[in-house]
Amino acid sequence: MARYELVKRSVALITLTNPPVNALSSAVRHAIAKSMECALSDPKVTAVVICGENGSFCGGADIREFAGPLKGPPLVPLLDAIEAGEKPVVAAIEGVALGGGFELALVCHYRIAHSKARLGLPEVTLGILPAAGGTQRLPRLIGISAALELITTGRHISAQEALKLGIVDQVTEQNACEVAVEFALRAVAKPLLSRRVSMPCKPREIRSAAVMGIKRECLHGHEQDLGMVPSLGTMGRGIAVCLARVGISVIAVESENKLLETGRQMVIGMLERDAKRRGVSASLNLLKFTISLQDLKDVNLVIEAVFEDMALKKRVFQELSKVCRPATLFCTNTSGLDVDALAGVTDRPHLVVGMHFFSPAHVMKLLEVVCGPRSSSETIATAMSLGKRMGKVRVAVGNCPGFVGNRMLKPYIDQATFLLEEGDFGFAMGVFRMSDLAGLDVGWRVWKESGLTGSDVDPENPPRRRQGRRYCPIPDMVCEKGRFGQKTGRGWYMYDKRGGTNAKPDPLIQILLETYRSKYGIQPHNISNQEIIERCLFALANEGFRILEDGIAARPEDIDVIYLFGYGFPRHRGGPMFYASMVGLERVLERLEHYHQAHPDVPHLKPSPLLKKLVACGSPPVQKWREHIKTMHSHL
Ligand code: NAI
Repeated sequence: MARYELVKRSVALITLTNPPVNALSSAVRHAIAKSMECALSDPKVTAVVICGENGSFCGGADIREFAGPLKGPPLVPLLDAIEAGEKPVVAAIEGVALGGGFELALVCHYRIAHSKARLGLPEVTLGILPAAGGTQRLPRLIGISAALELITTGRHISAQEALKLGIVDQVTEQNACEVAVEFALRAVAKPLLSRRVSMPCKPREIRSAAVMGIKRECLHGHEQDLGMVPSLGTMGRGIAVCLARVGISVIAVESENKLLETGRQMVIGMLERDAKRRGVSASLNLLKFTISLQDLKDVNLVIEAVFEDMALKKRVFQELSKVCRPATLFCTNTSGLDVDALAGVTDRPHLVVGMHFFSPAHVMKLLEVVCGPRSSSETIATAMSLGKRMGKVRVAVGNCPGFVGNRMLKPYIDQATFLLEEGDFGFAMGVFRMSDLAGLDVGWRVWKESGLTGSDVDPENPPRRRQGRRYCPIPDMVCEKGRFGQKTGRGWYMYDKRGGTNAKPDPLIQILLETYRSKYGIQPHNISNQEIIERCLFALANEGFRILEDGIAARPEDIDVIYLFGYGFPRHRGGPMFYASMVGLERVLERLEHYHQAHPDVPHLKPSPLLKKLVACGSPPVQKWREHIKTMHSHL
């Protein structure tokens, strides 16, 4: 009732053999269960393809069996097991995938359909519902309204419509089984998490947590003499407050006693003020402070918020692996480092996830939950649910440098600094105030780590270019003068005091700019507001399109939520992607092409393929973009 063979040395091919339509009789279910067991236990097998004999995938349940008692393995646990397996399973759909056959295809991690195939859930026409997961998996795959329509009408759809709806990953004119085998080989190295449509996971309940890094110390090395006013914005403190105020007991960790003591006073002060504002009593009894990692041996979850330094973070996670119980979840608040590289140094990569808070963490609503390729669904669900308990707006994002928000910021800030270099607009650009608030040293450290600046780089060879593209060194020059923004009282602007918020233009920056421009023979010219807006915001949205193509964000709406709740994007504009759609994608494309032509050494201005594709499809509204994004490589 099913044939099992090994093809291409490592792909288990399971062919259903129950003519005429390979219905899921008890014998077929039994044969599938046995074959899957073989495939999953055989180390030679790296992937599985399920297909049907005689040009038909599977016509569904064997209705002749409906009358009698259930014989053989029940369908639902069998399907759940296929989906949960650790080897990719690809459905090769020829002929029909109907009812239970469609539900079988839905538990496969990928679906390839022949162009003549037809799919559907016709149960309703027999007066029953798709009871083997179809009502649960289909809405998760294609959204509630499209799924409801298919389930309630029982309509059969073509392979082309299935592709458009996001049900199948590829439509082929060739032999679907052969295409599926090739596809399966390519899928071997890819994470399976996001391909399990039902994501059967429950979040864990978190009762206790530890936060690492609560007191900003003086800047290290030669920066130390600048002194430092601990700002309320430091992440660990804000995160500790967020946890304690929702009743989670918190152990706050610092690296040394002096810092711990100041940190303790600040956290307690913040919590007391917060409780007073909300008219409740401060939950100080939930807080413990320590410099000893040994004290973390019993916590459910750790949120690491130490300096943005990969080597330090790796050391911390290695230590935590030794100290904490095997089931403890490890979260990192890194603002852009590789979450998977951190997971890799632990003894539990599946329990590692990014929880990227925004400064100040006890005020800002946004939380990016960064899903590493090895983060388990339970880990992601727990981070999402903990964020919800903390009152955050949570967005699951994929793991890439800067994730979604900060990755999009790079082209935006680049444009702002290029405009500063070229033009005479002054400082009326939001991005400079924002950078002063966040701390200019943060970006400086990142650029140094990526080899864009620092002692090993010759700034004049060639000047104003790094790694083959345009580079503006002015932000480095500002940092070299010890101007790190609000916290040092000087940055792009000057402030009344360290930590002050009252920004005034600083004549010294004007002089720095003039000297710089005359050194490089740059003739400042007037730049219109329109050009400033277009270059900054269209570059921002362009990176958003790339993020969608790369599968780092699931929807354009997620990107907009991130910018509205984490980056102060004006609410009435709806977020960068919605703004682009309101301006008109055709116009955005035309302007990006224009600016890219004028600045060919700025790759971020090159229109993304997705933007071009959307324009070619008639610029559909934001809600429809998903139909045009094929994310075989989703990172979520
Ligand atoms: P910070 O410099 O204010 O705080 C880092 C703290 O970690 C310091 O108090 C330091 O004493 C402590 N620390 C260092 N080594 C430690 C160890 N071994 N054990 C315990 N504590 C240790 O830095 P900030 O700004 O709070 O950033 C922390 C993390 O949060 C970084 O990964 C950063 O990228 C990220 N982040 C920062 C945001 C911001 O706006 N500042 C926003 C979102 C994320």
